[in-house]
Amino acid sequence: MSAPELAARFEQEFGAVPDGVWQAPGRVNLIGEHTDYNDGFVLPFAIDKTARVAIKVRADPMVRLLSTYGDQGTFSTAIDSLEPDSAKGWTKYPLGVIWALQQRGIAVPGMDLLLDSTVPLGAGLSSSHAIECAVISALNDLTGAGLEAEDMVLTTQRAENEFVGAPTGIMDQSASLRGSKGHAVFLDCRDQGVELVPFDAESAGLVMLVIDTKVSHSHADGGYASRRASCELGARILGVKALRDVQVADLPRAKSLLDEVTYRRVRHVVTENSRVLQTVELLAGAGPGAIGELLDASHASMRDDFEISCPELDLAVETARTNGAIGARMTGGGFGGAAIALTPVAVEQQVRAAVVRAFSEAGYAAPEIFTVTPAAGALRLS
Ligand code: GLA
Repeated sequence: MSAPELAARFEQEFGAVPDGVWQAPGRVNLIGEHTDYNDGFVLPFAIDKTARVAIKVRADPMVRLLSTYGDQGTFSTAIDSLEPDSAKGWTKYPLGVIWALQQRGIAVPGMDLLLDSTVPLGAGLSSSHAIECAVISALNDLTGAGLEAEDMVLTTQRAENEFVGAPTGIMDQSASLRGSKGHAVFLDCRDQGVELVPFDAESAGLVMLVIDTKVSHSHADGGYASRRASCELGARILGVKALRDVQVADLPRAKSLLDEVTYRRVRHVVTENSRVLQTVELLAGAGPGAIGELLDASHASMRDDFEISCPELDLAVETARTNGAIGARMTGGGFGGAAIALTPVAVEQQVRAAVVRAFSEAGYAAPEIFTVTPAAGALRLS
């Protein structure tokens, strides 16, 4: 829905013109998976699929939430009675942001809010962070809180960790809030330092395909948390603040100190951090056509060492590769969701058709396949 359409719908539903419309994008991660909560490096980009919110401040302390998802009608609650773990469905994302702002001591007024989103749900493209980032951008403006992007990142992370109950890092919010058209966001998760890295697949004769496997996942489930716990255990035994402080050359020592599973988890993070740095270097030099092997190595590491892939993701990646993609990997937290495949334009149709065929032959649900390019981060539309 365009901003004027969303505003018109808001007026129809709530009987008044909204104070504004804000949008924030989903993301794909080019490379750097499960490195963010290890103080490491990530290289995501914002995509042209966005969550949009129209909001009007109310005179009373009530929050009324409605979405175009067509699920549950209008949800109402008193703004000062929000409790972690109490909210249902998509409402936990806007409510989580309100709660996290309150925890910072920011007085949030009552409001009516209408949400619309084109970020596919549960596809590993950060649909929840897109909502949170659209809401925090709006509330930052409407309350005059004046938060910097770095503070908004930490506030939405708190909403996710403590209100939603998903122990996630800072990558997704950073891509959504700090993304820029034509660029990937090279983020140092230790200090939130950002460098915008040009990523122009098109001029290299390539497209970035997203293959949504339709296998849905939730980071509030155990798999994500248990990987995070293994990383923390590894760092503790190795005597470092975070796995960011372990280098590839330190791996033999790590092997001698860690149990076999923890060692493989650590090896993934350590080698993945190094792959992010190599990718950034290659993008600055030879360009996107040179990063295929690193994408492949990243996928193998997630499949074999970190064990967060699934048969559908592996099939998507393998089929894309054997049909001409120059590199492919699962993207996001894993256990389902989407893969990306960097593909020469000349074989795009062949790759798409082969993946659809392979899924059908394997008896899997039909995947959804689309292209993405790096798009702008969160912004106010009206
Ligand atoms: C999810 C989390 C991120 C990050 C990725 C894995 O998307 O929200 O913080 O940990 O998984 O790289």
